[in-house]
Amino acid sequence: MPAVQIINVPLGDRAYDIHIGSGLLDQVGALVKPRLAGAKVLVVADATVAAAHGTRLLASLTAAGLVPTLFTFPAGEPSKSLATAEAAWAACAGAKIDRTDAVLGFGGGVSGDLAGFVASCWMRGVRFVQVPTSLLAMVDSSVGGKTGVNSAAGKNLVGAFCQPVAVVIDPALISTMDPREYRAGLAEVLKYGVINDPGFLAWQEANAAALDRGEPAAVAHAVAESCRIKAWYVEQDELEQGVRAHLNYGHTFGHALERETKYRQYLHGEAVGLGMRMAVELAARTGLLQTPDLAARQDALLRAYHLPLVHAATDPVATAASLTAACALDKKVAKGATRFILPVRPGTVELVTAPDAGLVQAAFSSALVPAGTGTP
Ligand code: GLY
Repeated sequence: MPAVQIINVPLGDRAYDIHIGSGLLDQVGALVKPRLAGAKVLVVADATVAAAHGTRLLASLTAAGLVPTLFTFPAGEPSKSLATAEAAWAACAGAKIDRTDAVLGFGGGVSGDLAGFVASCWMRGVRFVQVPTSLLAMVDSSVGGKTGVNSAAGKNLVGAFCQPVAVVIDPALISTMDPREYRAGLAEVLKYGVINDPGFLAWQEANAAALDRGEPAAVAHAVAESCRIKAWYVEQDELEQGVRAHLNYGHTFGHALERETKYRQYLHGEAVGLGMRMAVELAARTGLLQTPDLAARQDALLRAYHLPLVHAATDPVATAASLTAACALDKKVAKGATRFILPVRPGTVELVTAPDAGLVQAAFSSALVPAGTGTP
């Protein structure tokens, strides 16, 4: 049995464990069976993940006496739709998934978000298990119960909080990830250090090269620390009425960048990394930031993780103005006011509502360069 770390998410009668360990893909069945009542499990996976790892997962479920049915969909964000959910519900019917049975999300954020939404609605809610295979899903989306699909109204606007009954993470699976996708996940790892834990930030500074190379021990530690911090926020504020919003550090800027580039230029983590640079800049300009060296420390880690530090724009002035306007469209806008999570010092952030639009535009400008010019 591989070395396993267990992190509990203490949510009363909906508490669950996150199991983290290299090789745990072969133990999923044994680990989740005690949390299930019925034997049937609908496995929701994109076709790429199913082809790469599906045989091992299904074998592990079957070996534990469970009865899996595999539902696959084309990999990619367009599949996070009501149409795919509808097809998954048809698969639930075909597999005779009843109220005692379960839906298991297997893959990256798209699979987990989709599977959780399918589980939350099928028969008004069945058990849900998360087995993430991407770094982003391991450190963020598989923990905390945010599930949903995209719709004509926007990304992630249709969904439900649906906590899993178990999360099983095998960090060895990241060795098969696309390097760019892996590094985009590192932006969220960096986020946890900045918003919550100066010790974890310092650990990343000492281990950035190992983490960037995907060394197993470094990855396992980064995943476990990220999950520990995420679990704390979920315990404090499951439904994001308060402190859980701190997890959106870099996201108001990042979402605007993603929207303005039509979701084609950046992976989510890359846009969040740029957004974190802009958040430090805005914190400095508003006088909130007490430790100016945070900008250089964060930049050094973004650089070590090979994440973009600037956004190339043909007309940076016009782009900064349109990005600032795009912030008002963010789904986290509350009562018409834009909201930014800004750092005070390493490990401490604050929610700032409706900062001066000129300062927001200047923060965007700080990371915009004319197309074709160099990187800092
Ligand atoms: N991804 C942020 C959250 O789960 O709250």
